[in-house]
Amino acid sequence: MKSHTAIAEKIIVALDVPHPSDAKKLLSELKGIPCYLKVGMQLFYASGPQFILMLKEQGYRVFLDLKLHDIPNTVKGAADSITRLGVDMFNVHAAGGSRMMEAALEGIDTALSARVGIQRPIVIAVTQLTSTSQIVLNSEIGIPGNVEESVLHYANLAKQAGLNGVVTSPLEVAAIKQTCGSSFLTIVPGIRPHGSAIGDQFRIMSPKQAFAQGADYIVIGRPITTADNPRQALESIIKELSEP
Ligand code: C5P
Repeated sequence: MKSHTAIAEKIIVALDVPHPSDAKKLLSELKGIPCYLKVGMQLFYASGPQFILMLKEQGYRVFLDLKLHDIPNTVKGAADSITRLGVDMFNVHAAGGSRMMEAALEGIDTALSARVGIQRPIVIAVTQLTSTSQIVLNSEIGIPGNVEESVLHYANLAKQAGLNGVVTSPLEVAAIKQTCGSSFLTIVPGIRPHGSAIGDQFRIMSPKQAFAQGADYIVIGRPITTADNPRQALESIIKELSEP
């Protein structure tokens, strides 16, 4: 049976709040629980790099979810800057192509060779956004086939480019592990503990089901951040996961 600490380290709490003050309030409630934190576009564009540096000073592991997608040279520069912040994980769109993904890895190397004391971040790919339906995929984006085929194609491309894994719905974890190997990481949102509101997610699993599928990390936002008692919500997820 895993310790509560080992379980907490695999839970990424999505700080989907508008202002750093909201995030700080939430963190004061979760104080002492060694969970990972995800900072996305909304909070990052409002709070800036200083906020990331503050989280790192407090000892948190940070997933910076900015979904880079640009020409290789620009992504290389962005990955360099992101790595210098000391983040533990960030992501790029696989749709940018293998050269763009390789450029992200080059940006990391540039940062690591220029600045001592920072660690190599995990880089993961966004395959198809979970908001993309088959109709949108086929008739708007112009990719034939179904969403799962496209997800597996992009996961493979990311692996060939040298990335560490993908963000994926819990329903595709097993297929990705089968295609890309068990060491290729799956970071899995769409998690809903029993009894919590589903909201706009529709391809969901419970924390326990997602880990049983082979998820390496689970991402949980609103079931924790909008709970009356966020600490109790996170602790009860950890407790459930620690039980056989
Ligand atoms: O509140 P909830 O648990 O639904 O939050 C899930 C988090 O994971 C959000 O930050 C959302 O943007 C992110 N995410 C997702 N589906 C993806 C990629 C990221 O829900 N395919």
